Amino acid sequence: MPATSLEQIVSLAKRRGFVFPSSALYGGLGSTWDYGPLGVELKNNVKRAWWRSVVHERDDMEGLDAAILMNRLVWKYSGHEATFSDPMTDCRSCKARHRADQLFKARFDRDPESLDAINAAIDAKEIKCPKCGSNELTHARPFNLMFKTMVGPVDTGEDSGLAYLRPETAQGIFVNFGNVLDTMRRKLPFGIAQIGKAFRNEITPGNFTFRTREFEQMEIEYFVRPGEDEAAHQAWIDTRTKWYADLGLRRENLRQREQEKHELAHYAKRCVDLEYRFPMGWSELEGIANRTDFDLKAHSRSPENPDAVGELRYFDQEQKKHIVPYVIEPSAGADRATLAFLCDGYDESLVKEPPTEETAKLRELVESFGRSVEKRDAKVLEPAVKERLLAAAEKIAAGLPGTLPDLLALSDDAEANRIEVFKKVRGTAEKLGEEHTRTVLRLHPRLAPVTVAVFPLKKNEPRLVELGRAIKKDLQVAGLRSVYDDTGAIGKLYRRQDEIGTPFCITVDFQSLDDRTVTVRDRDTMGQERVGLGELGGALRSKVA
Ligand code: GAP
Repeated sequence: MPATSLEQIVSLAKRRGFVFPSSALYGGLGSTWDYGPLGVELKNNVKRAWWRSVVHERDDMEGLDAAILMNRLVWKYSGHEATFSDPMTDCRSCKARHRADQLFKARFDRDPESLDAINAAIDAKEIKCPKCGSNELTHARPFNLMFKTMVGPVDTGEDSGLAYLRPETAQGIFVNFGNVLDTMRRKLPFGIAQIGKAFRNEITPGNFTFRTREFEQMEIEYFVRPGEDEAAHQAWIDTRTKWYADLGLRRENLRQREQEKHELAHYAKRCVDLEYRFPMGWSELEGIANRTDFDLKAHSRSPENPDAVGELRYFDQEQKKHIVPYVIEPSAGADRATLAFLCDGYDESLVKEPPTEETAKLRELVESFGRSVEKRDAKVLEPAVKERLLAAAEKIAAGLPGTLPDLLALSDDAEANRIEVFKKVRGTAEKLGEEHTRTVLRLHPRLAPVTVAVFPLKKNEPRLVELGRAIKKDLQVAGLRSVYDDTGAIGKLYRRQDEIGTPFCITVDFQSLDDRTVTVRDRDTMGQERVGLGELGGALRSKVA
């Protein structure tokens, strides 16, 4: 079963070195995260898998790495200065700031048609502040999401040095269309891919790394003849869906959602969102838009754009004339994809039934926690939180010991931890969990931060240690990310590697010294086989390829 709450992932990520809150030493900075030793490996693997699939394995793609800082005029003519905004509203009572379109959607279960529709609902007091419940909200107004910065040593307070941290990597591709076309002698259709940081001053970031102000995009602009755009668009939708599924996302957690007319960006003719069923619900992983010829025209010299020095167009040999290609844009987030792989790969299950009396004791504690929640008034627990905790307590108590993994997930819930008796529940659950549950990250071998871990059966046996270290070194040279570990008993070491998603563990034992074979243990089947050292690198590489 994939993760049922983001807390499970946040807790694992922090505990095992995937993701840490940024600048925690100084109290942190809201919604910014640092990828730790395992997180950087995982995210790099996601980016590498994407690059390999969309650049190296195709004949119609080139790569690019454009600068983050660009001439401000790029953002003027792309339309971002005028329109890249979200509607924002303030609560007059508690002063919290919210995305007004999200409050509207939560209330009416549909997107607002316009700013006026949101404001009509605010006037009718139909929308409430989710923080304090007040319906005294200010009218929604557009809030531009681009971060401003100054270029050059002098801040004159004027706009002369003004630049933006790019809010998407796409524009770097559009303004380089002519450079790539000329230098690589490309014919239509062809595309340009880029991975890089993007920045948005989101009004309501949140859900861990799902929505942050600094993030990484993996974007493609694919240029086609007008008229060939619709077929190319559909082909990219299918290709990109398959990429996620091939790397392990369960099909039932992946869907394509056609954007409705009123959702479409001003440049888009059609857009399909690839969505993943995150623990907080279906949410966008990647948007695949048909941007028509909007961008190449917008950045070409014309009466509407006297600042551009040239035209972004293509000489079509067949028609013997210049045309402006249409653009298909599969735009993915590296952080969101990484989070989706973590959620989908997460698996915590009961592997051994605890003794009946221990289960009964835990059930009693959970029921007492439920009673304690029941007693709290709205000042202490928001009604929605109270309802959620009560439902969780009831479901867990009824299903123990099978619901032990759900209880362990609840252990990371900040609201549950505010109830005194929960400390006791948590302590007991964690002790039982340690012995009776198994946490495994079922990541695709190509994505796992560590591909293979090597253990000696005994750490005080120099010949085993020496051979183990040598095997680790050889595998590393063979291009497999490997680690050596002798800091615990084999069972404990397996457990540790399962939790971070290592697909293969190798144990070096006394037989290895005699016949040059080792035990290879598979994370998912837990099956073990003896493999000769001569075949080891090749056998493992074939499973990762
Ligand atoms: N060039 C088109 C474009 O930028 P988008 O839908 O705004 O389209 C594309 O962004 C992808 O970038 C999203 O599907 C998501 O994966 C990622 N993304 C966007 N905003 C994000 C944020 N605040 N935090 C993390 N990822 C984000």
